[in-house]
Amino acid sequence: MILKQKRSFYFAISALVFAILSIVGISASIAQADSNEKPKVTIVATGGTIAGEASSRASFTSYRAGSIPMDEMLEYIQPEISEHVDVDVIQFGNSGSGGYTLEEFHELTLVVEDALEEADGVVVTSGTDTMEEFAYWLDLTVQSQKPVVMTGAMRPWSSEGEMVLGADGPANLYNSILLAGSQSTFCFGTVLMLNDEIHAAKDVTKADTYRMDTFESPNNGPLGFIDGMNISTDRAPARVQSCGDLDEWMTPFDMTEVEAEDLARTEIVYTYQNAGGEAITAFAEAGVDGIVTAGTGAGGISSAQRAAQNDAIENHDVVFATSSRTGAGNVYGGRDQIIAANDLIPQKARILLTLGLTYAPDNTEQVAEWFHTIGNPQFNATNVDHDDEYPTWQNNAIYVAGDRVWYEGVLYEAKWWTVNDIPSESGEWDVWKVVESEVTAS
Ligand code: SIN
Repeated sequence: MILKQKRSFYFAISALVFAILSIVGISASIAQADSNEKPKVTIVATGGTIAGEASSRASFTSYRAGSIPMDEMLEYIQPEISEHVDVDVIQFGNSGSGGYTLEEFHELTLVVEDALEEADGVVVTSGTDTMEEFAYWLDLTVQSQKPVVMTGAMRPWSSEGEMVLGADGPANLYNSILLAGSQSTFCFGTVLMLNDEIHAAKDVTKADTYRMDTFESPNNGPLGFIDGMNISTDRAPARVQSCGDLDEWMTPFDMTEVEAEDLARTEIVYTYQNAGGEAITAFAEAGVDGIVTAGTGAGGISSAQRAAQNDAIENHDVVFATSSRTGAGNVYGGRDQIIAANDLIPQKARILLTLGLTYAPDNTEQVAEWFHTIGNPQFNATNVDHDDEYPTWQNNAIYVAGDRVWYEGVLYEAKWWTVNDIPSESGEWDVWKVVESEVTAS
């Protein structure tokens, strides 16, 4: 409660900052900040290649990830970084990214939230292999609007105290701290910064095993770039629209409300030609709460998998999320206990399914709604309050669950995401529900 009050106060300030940023354009340079007081950034270090100890200075692929403490790494970017930002370090762990459990993710959120009580922004370092999962987890669970920036490296840091040739870690660390301190991504949720590019946690994925420009956002591209002291953000996650309304901006996934051991168990099943249903059956019998299918094309699965899926729903109450193995594009539809993951790739859909089933274990409709709203936020000009009147339905406008529109004298509310579906044609039980009719309204 006290936390929420503090947040409300902070929110009033932040809404003002955001409004000003909106007027001048969302582009910032750390050098332009009022330099009487430097921003404070906390690094939460978890390990990965960025903290890797290599067998020689030229050893790019042979190294031990998660070896060098962050305090030591920070020394290397001094005194330059302290000219702009006051930095402190929390060494959360020091290992490869793949070894972290969801219980540790739960703890990580609490540590980040706690750091943001004092700091203006947080940088989380991790291995790049599952960094996109770290990032999306934090995006969905951190309730502070302050910047959270994830970074790492594709080359190890050093070998016996000497920097690895062409190591990308120092510049990535330096730029991430600048980015977090600059407040350029205030209200963006968690972003990922590597190779001078800024990506949205929801969109970004590791696309190459070794290249330094490994991170891509296949559906939407990067949010922006860092060139020297210039930080530009050319677009923003749609979530920034609710920057002025903290309750709307925050997700329901507040980690102070659940214990780590109460997180739902979810798994991913991959689809391919003639895939068998045994993996789905085994997971269902093992007692998982949810399964994400990484389907072909727009989400298809094999006949054997379909049969196993039906059985898992009927006999084990498993909830499914349908995603695509293509790596880009949308999956639409869904029914009963099968939720369309929209444009979430399987490993992102699995994070949202885990949280959804943790917070609404017996309410698939609610989980589905979170996939369509939190999981698929859209810019929507029809949300603008027109003198308290709801807008009339427009062809080609994007509507998400909860949006209200007038159509031929009837006020409808969207139950699902829809673009061209005319309310009266889709019917009350499909996409739209009737809220009020002008004829009967008092
Ligand atoms: C890891 O994810 O921990 C290893 C790979 C990397 O950090 O790039």
